[in-house]
Amino acid sequence: MTLAPFGAAALNQKLVGEAGSRFRLETPAAVLDLDLFERNIALLAETCRKAGLAVRPHAKSHKCAEIARQQMAAGALGICCAKPGELLALFEGGIRDLLLSAPIASPTKIDALARAAAAGGRIGVVVDRADLAIAYGEAARRHGAVLDVLIDLDVGLRRSGVATPAEAVDLAKLVSGVDGLRYRGVQAYQGRVQHIDDFAARRAANQEMGRLLAAMIAALRQAGFEPQVVSGGGTGSHLLDGEEQLLTEIQAGSYVFMDEAYNSVDMHGQGGPEFEPALRIAVTVIGHSSLGFAITDGGSKSFALDGPPPRVFLGGELVGRIEWCGDEFGRILPREGQGPLPIGTVVECTVPHCDPTINLHDFLHVASGDRLIALWHVEARGRAD
Ligand SMILES: Cc1ncc(COP(=O)(O)O)c(C=O)c1O
Repeated sequence: MTLAPFGAAALNQKLVGEAGSRFRLETPAAVLDLDLFERNIALLAETCRKAGLAVRPHAKSHKCAEIARQQMAAGALGICCAKPGELLALFEGGIRDLLLSAPIASPTKIDALARAAAAGGRIGVVVDRADLAIAYGEAARRHGAVLDVLIDLDVGLRRSGVATPAEAVDLAKLVSGVDGLRYRGVQAYQGRVQHIDDFAARRAANQEMGRLLAAMIAALRQAGFEPQVVSGGGTGSHLLDGEEQLLTEIQAGSYVFMDEAYNSVDMHGQGGPEFEPALRIAVTVIGHSSLGFAITDGGSKSFALDGPPPRVFLGGELVGRIEWCGDEFGRILPREGQGPLPIGTVVECTVPHCDPTINLHDFLHVASGDRLIALWHVEARGRAD
């Protein structure tokens, strides 16, 4: 007996192009609202262009080569990745300009990155230790490749990076002297700033990190290692980074999808978010609980739960919020004076946190209006290595 193809994406393939198909998907399914997605990409590109900043979006939020291509078509000069596995999956997906934004400690992974550079990639890496710089240099020479290098600076995140101007200068000097490495500048990712909801508090935190960064840049310049690239920033800080004029490129990631964790961040100081919730998870009402909830077919295996509860949309209309009732289930409260949503109804939920949510889905169901128009492979899904 031959079984029919299974998995929501395989079952949904036949719906591509059909009127109304968006609301008939087999679920749980990750849905990308194409119109909101394109608006988000264009908005960040335009904001950064006006501020004189380049864009190097972070693929940790989407893990999808097609999205990376669209970001580059909108002017991004390359793509950031959080892990070597993520970077290599996107390289295999055809993306050629990639920056690994975290230090690593595996000779095998260092070698694989150098091989990608030898195979035609423009591969950038960050270093915060002499031994890592030396290992990257050896791997690059072994494969006849060159790796672009940024010195990773700790400007308050306390995760990676050198924390003093003297250490930054020492490392820049070392990198500049290693064959196979090309010193390009610094990375200064101020992760703690991104999710501060209050605009004035976020601006003050960004200015504080700016003072640390300015001191590091000044020391490098004085020592003859003026950084050509100063990479950092994210969705929450990108407008403030334009004011500071210290970064040369912005690594925003979440802006492309948005999530509930970012929805409360007052982007402009006028209340409200800047970007639209383009990523949704479609779920189906599969029953009614004895308490009158509509029970849906997606829980922690379809949504990363580390964020505020998602909003639920039915055919574009907001119908409430979803709560969790298990790994495979959610529940939606009935609306005032109404019964639970009918069994079989497909609703779309925003996501608590986009990065770990997309890591649960192999395909994005790309929708425009009421139609499913394409399926995009999430090549780096699961690549946390
Ligand atoms: C190094 C680095 N750059 C950029 C980002 C993107 O940040 P956001 O998703 O807030 O735009 C992250 C997110 O964690 C990160 O770790």
